[in-house]
Amino acid sequence: MKRVLTVALVLALSVGSAIAADLKIAVLAPLSGPVPSFGLSTKEGALLAIQEWNAKGGVLGRKIVPIVEDSQCTADPAVNAANKVINQDGVKFIIGEVCSGASIPVSEIANPAKVIEISPTSTNPNVTVDSKGNTKAYIFRACYIDPFQGGILAQFSAQRLKAKKAFIMYDQGNDYTVGLANAFEAQFKKLGGTIAGKETYTKTDTDFSAILSKIKDANPQVVLLPDYYNIVNLVTKQAKEKGINVPFVGGDGWDSSDLDLVSSAGCYYTNHYAPDDPRKEVQTFLKAYAAAYKDDSGKPKVPDALAVLAYDATNLLLQAIATAKTDDTTKVKTALEAIKFSAVSGLITFDKLHNPIKALTILSIKGGKVVFDSVVQP
Ligand code: PHE
Repeated sequence: MKRVLTVALVLALSVGSAIAADLKIAVLAPLSGPVPSFGLSTKEGALLAIQEWNAKGGVLGRKIVPIVEDSQCTADPAVNAANKVINQDGVKFIIGEVCSGASIPVSEIANPAKVIEISPTSTNPNVTVDSKGNTKAYIFRACYIDPFQGGILAQFSAQRLKAKKAFIMYDQGNDYTVGLANAFEAQFKKLGGTIAGKETYTKTDTDFSAILSKIKDANPQVVLLPDYYNIVNLVTKQAKEKGINVPFVGGDGWDSSDLDLVSSAGCYYTNHYAPDDPRKEVQTFLKAYAAAYKDDSGKPKVPDALAVLAYDATNLLLQAIATAKTDDTTKVKTALEAIKFSAVSGLITFDKLHNPIKALTILSIKGGKVVFDSVVQP
């Protein structure tokens, strides 16, 4: 009897430690909702990084197990997903969310719980910094921030497009679009430009004719539309129908395989990487991604910036865990603060606010294609 018990105990212990040996990482991504292409790319990028680490033996000798949740780029579903992975699944690491308006409320749950959150793509400063200006100790991102992105859009409009008059339209309820609009306005004025009009809408609007009429009357040389591709598609189509031919410019939110390249012809946006970048990191990733993922017609996929940054964010995290030699999040966050990581999107080191200092890529839309324009260093 005693022997049977001992065997049972040893078995239970080894089964127990085998379960504990897995290292869980949550991926919060908008698989449904207004911007599903963001979610699919993010999931694909993160899972590819995890597969590659697992193929090399995992991290700390443990197998990495992803837990993917659909957080919809929206505050409430994202908060529910964060609570679920922290409280039910017991995760200590989150890759996500994608959109700033979802990443900010998630950070407010993760940070006090000492759960590390790395947003691959959320560019609003408030993701990593609280309302008093203090850095949230456990929160990081793998991308640049909107004051930089919005400032470059203003500079590009004033200098390259030679615009003196700009019109701004943005979603007043979206942290991302508000932040970019403000950064653009400040820098455009600084460069001597004037804002010919500034109009807001809400995320449920689908008819932009009233704003577009005002744009026609104001006759600007550039229109800032710092929103996600779903809104960009509606606005640029309606603008073309109204005979508005002035270029629209926007930020990384335009990046999608579902961007309407016909309606947005002649427009420009800022992004995090370009597939024609010859750097070894970029070309190696392109090959691995193409081998792993095919589009609906069976053709190998070219990763967008969301896939790249999700891959980078996941690698950053796993590298920091490996360097810290523990999954203790306080030690892992210290490792992240000191990291120097050669990512696909560029060399990543963190400033005191947990923001990487990285270059930005400008893209233009021409002949039904997205074309590399230039790179701007910080
Ligand atoms: N930067 C956007 C945000 O903060 C998210 C995004 C990044 C969308 C990159 C598309 C591509 O909300």
